[in-house]
Amino acid sequence: MPATRASDRNSLLERRTRTLGSHTPLFYDTPLQLVSGKGVWLRSIDGRRYLDAYNNVPHVGHAHPAVANAVSQQMRKLALNTRYLNDRVVDYSEALLGTFGETLNRVSFGNSGSEANELAIRMARFRSGNTGLLMSDYSYHGTTLTLAQATTGLKTSEAMGENVRTLRIPDTTGLSEAAAARLLQTSLSEVDTAIASLQEAGFGVAAVLFDPLFSTEGLVKVPAGYVEGLVHRVHQAGGLYIADEVQSGFGRIGRLMWGHELFDPVPDIVTMGKPMGNGHPLGATVMGAQLLEDFGAENMFFNTFAGNPVSAAAGHAVLNVMSDEALLPRAAANGALLKRELSRELVGNERIDEVRGDGLFAGMRFTDPATGEADPATAKQVVEAMYRDGVLISRVGRNDEVLKIRPPLAFEESDAELLVTKLSRIITELPSAA
Ligand SMILES: Cc1ncc(COP(=O)(O)O)c(C=O)c1O
Repeated sequence: MPATRASDRNSLLERRTRTLGSHTPLFYDTPLQLVSGKGVWLRSIDGRRYLDAYNNVPHVGHAHPAVANAVSQQMRKLALNTRYLNDRVVDYSEALLGTFGETLNRVSFGNSGSEANELAIRMARFRSGNTGLLMSDYSYHGTTLTLAQATTGLKTSEAMGENVRTLRIPDTTGLSEAAAARLLQTSLSEVDTAIASLQEAGFGVAAVLFDPLFSTEGLVKVPAGYVEGLVHRVHQAGGLYIADEVQSGFGRIGRLMWGHELFDPVPDIVTMGKPMGNGHPLGATVMGAQLLEDFGAENMFFNTFAGNPVSAAAGHAVLNVMSDEALLPRAAANGALLKRELSRELVGNERIDEVRGDGLFAGMRFTDPATGEADPATAKQVVEAMYRDGVLISRVGRNDEVLKIRPPLAFEESDAELLVTKLSRIITELPSAA
């Protein structure tokens, strides 16, 4: 990188710190300044190209003309708060709800995943008359105070809410069938204990809230019957099932539109955000008609920007592009290719258990061959080496030891092949663990 560029970057970094503070996170040891994007490719200020295999916000591809045009045309025409009759938001609501089964037939828009989850919890408390929450013990669902008091997967200064009980999400990776069956039993009795504890403390159960792909947890593979058993118990206790589709939704799984469709129980409430507007801030809470009717009758609920015509134009354009460009089948095919080829290249590698994930969301967990312990240092080394080699990926998991490969749905076969070639070479060339 030319010296002038490095000094420009340092000066921008200093200005950023002086305005946004020193704790506003940045990826990479040497932060990346991107200036433009197209499809799954990004360009940095120093002219380098990067393959985006990480970002799920530019869902249908960076700077997609159909979304950009829809937003700018609507912005030139009308942009205002949502208390006027507007056809765009109704058209979009119909299209969005058309992707759900018949019980999930009402939507309330928001501006982020956090807002969607906050409203979902508020509604669950309203419907159940309870306040207790069941959460994964390594998860993240947003920035509000309620969610901060239920955050287990990121640092928060707030103490865990007294009304929150956490569950260890069981992972069957590497387990025999018999061991997985035993794990199912112990995990469901943990659920029983948590529910009993909420009831004894007088909170009762308002909801269980989880991401159906268990992304933050490291894309863990739950035993068959776990989600069914968990949701059944929550329902019996009078609580609601909230599926957080911020990461797992909108066709991320490829063969399915929504992550919750991986399991039998239909959620009472579904929340979504990130990919919805292809970069335009947009979130939503989807529920059944009766719940919204009852909640609305008791609460004058109004959110200034949520579901405004510009946001609706963005959201609707995303759904149209997904359909016009057949992005779900593409995600299914390229996700399968990615997993198959990475597994083939890295089979028997002593540091990796298996290539996990579903659809166009892949992960691989690094462990130290000597101790079997999580190996976040190697995962970080690989992420940084991929960055130097022009491919963006990241890390998740309890110890940040799982690679996170979650490209825009616009990822092509040739992109998957390029990623496999680079990642396999980087992992194979890691210094020997011995
Ligand atoms: C699963 C999940 N839920 C909710 C959120 C919060 O969404 P937002 O940052 O749009 O508020 C996130 C953000 O990372 C998330 O990953």
